[in-house]
Formats: sequence, structure tokens, C-alpha cells
Amino acid sequence: MKVIGIVGSPRKGGNTETLVSHILSGAKDRGAEIKLFHLSTMAIGGCDSCGHCRSNPQCKRKDDMQTLYSEIKNANGLVIGSPVYMWQMSAQTKLFIDRLLAFLNKDFSSRLARRTKLILAFTQGQGDVKAFKAYFDQTAAMMGFLGFNVLETIVAGGTLAKKDIARQAALLKTARASGAKLAE
Ligand SMILES: Cc1cc2nc3c(=O)[nH]c(=O)nc-3n(C[C@H](O)[C@H](O)[C@H](O)COP(=O)(O)O)c2cc1C
Repeated sequence: MKVIGIVGSPRKGGNTETLVSHILSGAKDRGAEIKLFHLSTMAIGGCDSCGHCRSNPQCKRKDDMQTLYSEIKNANGLVIGSPVYMWQMSAQTKLFIDRLLAFLNKDFSSRLARRTKLILAFTQGQGDVKAFKAYFDQTAAMMGFLGFNVLETIVAGGTLAKKDIARQAALLKTARASGAKLAE
């Protein structure tokens, strides 16, 4: 049982990493082997739109995305965490998401062998956690289209300073409980 977390914030030890780590801890409590990746420390370029993955089963770009492709294919559960930047996911997260085109066949059916469980985790300065709901719902739908089984989207609001999320003990406890579902 393997569960991996992907952090799309460049701020090491920040709110997004903390949230993703709590979700992973819940999976670990249930016996999962966990791994955490920071997109900002990996060499991941944008999709070149070269078309290679439209007629071949994989992306040909030789960068750190190759590690994530194989980690995701072998994982039972996945957590993708991003801070909200300008009402959307961070640029680092978007580069990663665009590269997931390689998980789709030409007819847009999924190449994933199983519907890997996924939790989306967002943190935002805005205190109202419903403020970007339409965007989060669309992101969840898009991940479902790629072939993931999106269990839920967890949102932490009011997290402007690096450690603000530490004050949200109830949310972090819920996040940990949600993470356990990735290992069921
Ligand atoms: C470039 C940038 C853009 C941001 N845009 C928004 C935004 O549109 N809405 C919002 O609520 N917070 C916004 N924020 C605040 C972050 O979403 C928030 O502080 C987040 O929790 C940071 O996560 P981190 O601690 O993991 O870096 C922005 C922060 C940065 C640096």
C-alpha cells in the first residue's frame, strides 16, 4: 500500500506542506508507505504539446516528471496540495497537471490501470473556504476525467503566514482522518 503526496507550494514547511503531511500521516497510521514530493525542487517543464503521448503510451520529455509518472502509476492513493495563487492552483502545480495529459488515450479514456484514490488539498489566504469553490469543483471534475477517484477536496482558509495552519487543529485532525481513507 503506497500513498504519495505532491506539494505545489514553493514555501518549504508552509501551510500546504503541513496540510498534505497531515493527510499522509493518516494514511501512514493505516499502514501505508508514504512519500512526499515538492514540485518546486524538481525539474518539471511544461507540456511541449509535441503529440508524442497521443500516439505513444508515455511522455517523452526526460525530466523529473518521469519519476512522478511511475510513482503515481504504482500508488494506491495520491494527495495533491496547492496554495491558491490568483484564484487558481500555483504555476508549479499547473505545470505538473498539464503533464498528466500522458495519462489520457487519444479518445480521452484514461490510461490509469486503476482509479487511484485522490485527495485535493488547497490552502488560501482568504478566510472564506467557499470563495473558490467553483474552481476547486472544476479541478476535482478534471482529475476524475483523468481517471482518478477523487475522494474529497480539503481547503484551509486564512493561511497567509507560513505557519498559520498550525492554529487550525480541528482541520488538521479531519485531514488526518481523511488520509486514512487513502489506505483503505
Ligand atoms: C503569488 C501569490 C498569489 C496568491 N493569491 C491568492 C489568492 O488569489 N487568493 C487567496 O486567498 N490567497 C492567495 N495567496 C495566499 C496563499 O494562497 C496562502 O498564503 C497559502 O496558504 C500559501 O501556502 P504556503 O504556505 O504553502 O505557501 C497568494 C499568495 C501568493 C504568494
